[in-house]
Amino acid sequence: MNVPFLNLKIQYKEIEKEVVPMVTEAMSNAAFIGGPQVTGFETEFAAFCDSKFCIGVNSGTDALRFALMAIGVGAGDEVITVPNTFIATTEAISQVGATPVFVDVLKDTSEMDPSLIEGKISKKTKAIIPVHLYGQTVDMDPIMQTAKKHNIAVIEDACQAHGALYKGKKAGSMGVAGCFSFYPGKNLGAYGEAGAVVTQDKEIDKKIRMIRDHGQEQKYYHAIEGYNGRLDAIQAGVLRIKLKRLQSWNDSRRQNAKYYNEQLSGVKGVTLPVEADFAKAIYHIYAIHLDDRDGLQKFLTDKGIGTGLHYPVPLHLQKAYAHMGYKEGSLPVSESLSKRLLSLPMFPELTREEIKYVCDCVKEYMDKK
Ligand SMILES: Cc1ncc(COP(=O)(O)O)c(C=O)c1O
Repeated sequence: MNVPFLNLKIQYKEIEKEVVPMVTEAMSNAAFIGGPQVTGFETEFAAFCDSKFCIGVNSGTDALRFALMAIGVGAGDEVITVPNTFIATTEAISQVGATPVFVDVLKDTSEMDPSLIEGKISKKTKAIIPVHLYGQTVDMDPIMQTAKKHNIAVIEDACQAHGALYKGKKAGSMGVAGCFSFYPGKNLGAYGEAGAVVTQDKEIDKKIRMIRDHGQEQKYYHAIEGYNGRLDAIQAGVLRIKLKRLQSWNDSRRQNAKYYNEQLSGVKGVTLPVEADFAKAIYHIYAIHLDDRDGLQKFLTDKGIGTGLHYPVPLHLQKAYAHMGYKEGSLPVSESLSKRLLSLPMFPELTREEIKYVCDCVKEYMDKK
């Protein structure tokens, strides 16, 4: 049996009948940039995220960069985040002129350890970016408390967490801004590049609307220099079609995670993903931990099973950040996880049979050890 890591083709079959006429209509009306699809999506996604405003942008990276710019983070500032994330989180920080400062993550959830933040705050700290990794929210209350105490902004990287809950609150709705990616493989994915910022703050909404559109207040009147970072109408149309189904797709992912947990519980040497008491995760990624990660990955590949590594090198040890001078051993939990994590196939349409096959193969390999 072949079980891909991700299969977007099944999902397309489900929505094809709505996508094709939407694209045809956009072409016929020559409505490509902005317009009713974009404003419609912004209204619907703001409501989905329990947020007052949503600004559609070109990518999750733009969302993070524009949010940082909108709150005035720039040269000489520091932003606290984690090394166990996709590089876009720190690219956004560096590209506005600031410096990422890393805190380590918790071993069980692989997410930001809030108790380490206080020790990294300096006079230059302007913001904290917790990353809701794998579709599970970070423990936000202690982070919000520390931020409030030091008058620092919190920007949520919710690029993997569309619809995830923290104590009943939606990912993205708690900080000054929540940033989303709609990269095709995400739980809510476009058919190209797309992203969004949600916020409760009118001023931030206004600023990001300008930043994403060359700093225009009105056509050809530029209050500031901005970017070409708009969401296009066809992607917005795709996202509206998918958003209607997102809750049910997220529920299916949760069911799949539950079945994985049942099948893999008690397998010696394998640690299962932990869902914290405060969280309702949406399982963008289902990652197990084990010592011989590379051996199992090869075994599963030979059995026709797709897997992923999220992430194989923590950001502080990437070549791109060699100039920061971090050494092996400086963020030990992230370093250990990077060698132990293995992401198993996860998408809403996975069948029980497929999950059982993956789990049987994991057991077969672990039994031989
Ligand atoms: C945690 C995280 N942050 C930021 C991004 C960047 O999003 P995009 O690829 O849409 O620019 C991603 C997407 O892969 C992500 O997973």
